Amino acid sequence: MNSNMKHVSHLIAPSLLASDFAHLEEEVNLVNQSDADWLHLDVMDGHFVPNISFGFPVIKAAKKYSKVPCDVHLMIEKPDQYVERFREAGADIISVHYEACPNLHRTIQLIKSTGAKAGVAINPHTSVTLLEDILEDVDMVLVMSVNPGYGGQKFIYQSIPKIRKLRAMMDERNIRALIEVDGGVGLQNAEKILQAGADVLVAGSSVFRAEDPKDAIYRLKTIGKETIFV
Ligand code: DX5
Ligand code: ZN
Repeated sequence: MNSNMKHVSHLIAPSLLASDFAHLEEEVNLVNQSDADWLHLDVMDGHFVPNISFGFPVIKAAKKYSKVPCDVHLMIEKPDQYVERFREAGADIISVHYEACPNLHRTIQLIKSTGAKAGVAINPHTSVTLLEDILEDVDMVLVMSVNPGYGGQKFIYQSIPKIRKLRAMMDERNIRALIEVDGGVGLQNAEKILQAGADVLVAGSSVFRAEDPKDAIYRLKTIGKETIFV
């Protein structure tokens, strides 16, 4: 590759939620050996979402084996109370929900104070325009393309114009935060999601339920790869 060429690529974050927890070490190793960039970890408290997943001990165990950054998605109420412990458990990126944080700016600063990267997640019904006054402070916006709580749901297509709108808002102000898209993402829609402006694709079922998960990750990673001149 020529030195004045830059390889531009999106990131893939397989979601452990769809994996086999009885073989956690093997599942995390599979991610390590693949083209994945991050490991996505979904924490659900049974209050913010109608499901309970896992907490600190599982993140700690995943972190022990993971060679890629741990991207922790908190679908919980009152996340401020637990941010430090998630960081200690091994979170490199911590995303909290806009809908769960009445003092979002404070929560974002708290995450950053632990040394983690800070993300804000929005549910399908939450408009990206509500992020106008927090965009400068976050490292990432996580756009939920299903209602949070379960893996294996159908992608909500209204998310595409939403991602496009967010990308335009960010470009206009030269904001460098990443856009992550989570829920129902697979080979059938990944290209459209990337074209709309996403940087990070979360994929649970489409990876761990695939016949060959590593190949599924590779295929997601190599969609729309391009080389640009800079
Ligand atoms: C849903 C979670 C997702 C989930 C994605 O509430 O936030 O990260 O694991 O799973 P799939 O890719 O199966 O929709
Ligand atoms: Zn998630």
